[in-house]
Amino acid sequence: MSDSISPLRLRRLEKAARAAAAAAYCPYSNFRVGAAVLTGSGKIYAGGNVENASYGLCNCAERTAIFSAAAAGERRVRAVVVYTATPAPTLPCGACRQVISEFGPEALVFSICDSAQRCATSVPELLPRAFGPGDLLKG
Ligand code: THU
Repeated sequence: MSDSISPLRLRRLEKAARAAAAAAYCPYSNFRVGAAVLTGSGKIYAGGNVENASYGLCNCAERTAIFSAAAAGERRVRAVVVYTATPAPTLPCGACRQVISEFGPEALVFSICDSAQRCATSVPELLPRAFGPGDLLKG
């Protein structure tokens, strides 16, 4: 079931996402993104996008943050905050939606930016009828 997160935790996540954007490595797109995730243990993991001269290897901020959490042994994502230095919020790309769905099918997903505009959404809204672990058990 989807749970709620406290305003304090949300503020902490937002701060972590903004800080992560400052460390993003994005010399090719110059599109700076930061993400922070709240895990089942209550910890926050953050990361920015990490690009590569071989463009196809660029990694989004959301996946940097989630893979960092998973590498630390976390298996549940409760909330994701994505920050972009834009006037309007940016929602996760398709690949990141799939990765969020893996660890946080019930996660709350927030996008924030440099204006007061923000977006709060859910995985079923971002990725309806998602492929998931259950599909591997079929057949
Ligand atoms: N990017 C993210 O980090 N997250 C998104 O949700 C969308 C795109 C990054 C990938 C790439 O480094 C740059 O933004 C331009 O696509």
